[in-house]
Amino acid sequence: MNYHELHFDEIDSTNTYLKNTYKLLGNFTFVSADYQSSGKGRNDRTWTSEKGENLMFSFLIKDEELIKQSPIISLLSAVEVAKVLETYKIKGVSIKWPNDVFIGDKKVCGILAEGQLPNFMVVGVGINVNQKVFPDGLRRPATSVSLELKKDINVNELKEVLFHNIVNSLSNLDINKSLEYFRSHNYLLGKRVKVMFDNQEFIGEVAGVDDSFCLQIKSNSILLHVDSGEIEILK
Ligand code: BTN
Repeated sequence: MNYHELHFDEIDSTNTYLKNTYKLLGNFTFVSADYQSSGKGRNDRTWTSEKGENLMFSFLIKDEELIKQSPIISLLSAVEVAKVLETYKIKGVSIKWPNDVFIGDKKVCGILAEGQLPNFMVVGVGINVNQKVFPDGLRRPATSVSLELKKDINVNELKEVLFHNIVNSLSNLDINKSLEYFRSHNYLLGKRVKVMFDNQEFIGEVAGVDDSFCLQIKSNSILLHVDSGEIEILK
């Protein structure tokens, strides 16, 4: 499967770039940047990253069949990020549903999917690679590949392998294989969580991920299948 790559030394946000130019670009166009001046995170948060130390990219999806899978594209992408990190022999890699990648109890990668269905979808991925110091006051503790491995790695090599693996995964759509990986690396499994669902608050224990990648939460005697939302982990 073909893909295209663009790289910027500096840009506002790779997600914003693709959202503004999607009409001119083809399916599987990847845009990466050394620095983003207005990096975006989920839920209107910002995503900050030291210049040149990390991997930040977005890719465009316009393929009609793939767009039909939009609810799970970012989860499949998280699976590919987690898998590639494991090739560096990093221990304790997991996925915090829906699409954060963790090492131990710290976040190493965040993913933001945006777009205008059914026209296009943009998936943005930020991975902490060689950054060693993180700002105070982050919502959750962060880590990086280099902090875990105690050595820097080549950001471009990681990028090329990951682009290739994401394109392969989304072209072949072997959903069962990705689901199996997700289930065996489910950070939230067994944890007590709080979730807002249909404007109601539920507290329960995470029981797994169903065949549609929804998070299953056992709350009293009900098994909820949650397809979106912020999950708060309770102590
Ligand atoms: C999150 O965990 O809140 C999602 C973070 C997503 C960050 C990436 S970095 C590349 C792409 N461009 C952006 O502006 N955001 C995403």
